[in-house]
Amino acid sequence: MGLQAQTEKNVGLLIVLTVLVMSVGGLVQIVPLFFQHSTTEPVTGLKPYTALQLIGRDVYIREGCYTCHSQMIRPFRAETERYGHYSVAGEFVYDRPFQWGSKRTGPDLARVGGRYSDDWHRVHLINPRDVVPESIMPGYPWLEETAADASDIQTKMRALRTLGHPYSDEEIGKAVKDLEGKSEMDAMVAYLQVLGTSVKTRR
Ligand code: HEC
Repeated sequence: MGLQAQTEKNVGLLIVLTVLVMSVGGLVQIVPLFFQHSTTEPVTGLKPYTALQLIGRDVYIREGCYTCHSQMIRPFRAETERYGHYSVAGEFVYDRPFQWGSKRTGPDLARVGGRYSDDWHRVHLINPRDVVPESIMPGYPWLEETAADASDIQTKMRALRTLGHPYSDEEIGKAVKDLEGKSEMDAMVAYLQVLGTSVKTRR
């Protein structure tokens, strides 16, 4: 019996060898990513979210916007024509956790920043059909009436700083003041308007 036939008939050995081959393949693909600058370094000009944008991001997650919107433009013509430059890893260094998602009931939002005015977003978020008559997106009118929660913003920023987000003491110090009088709507709009703006697009 040849070596190959022997291996194929010995289930235990086959499992061990299969796992071995997969591990080597996996390591060869994955390990370099931890050391490659393009996957670990922020793109030039990338800033960590401001206090207001950070709250907006939390509201985005709380409201489940990711269940209908992705934030990841794939490197295909059909996507780059529609959304702009494809997403690169260095844009998401200060996103914990990132909001790439995979469900696109609505359009991708990775580069929605600057595409519409703040007012457009406000109207759209209160009742999408006021600006896009055929829209099936739900409205979020309570964002306008809910104050941005400043109670734990400094703790959050300090926690992010330990993970490498470059916040200065001054930024953390004035975070509560920055949120004074702001609604969750203000926060959400601030967040949407910064999305994808650190990479120049040719739109
Ligand atoms: C049930 C699915 C669904 C959910 C949940 C949802 N959206 Fe949408 N969204 C859509 C659809 C469909 C469109 C396209 C029609 C339109 O513009 O309203 C859209 C459009 C948008 C646009 C305009 C994008 C563009 O490029 O024109 C923005 C911005 C947006 N949504 C933000 C949000 C935010 C923020 C949330 C969470 C508070 C959210 N969406 C929740 C379905 C959804």
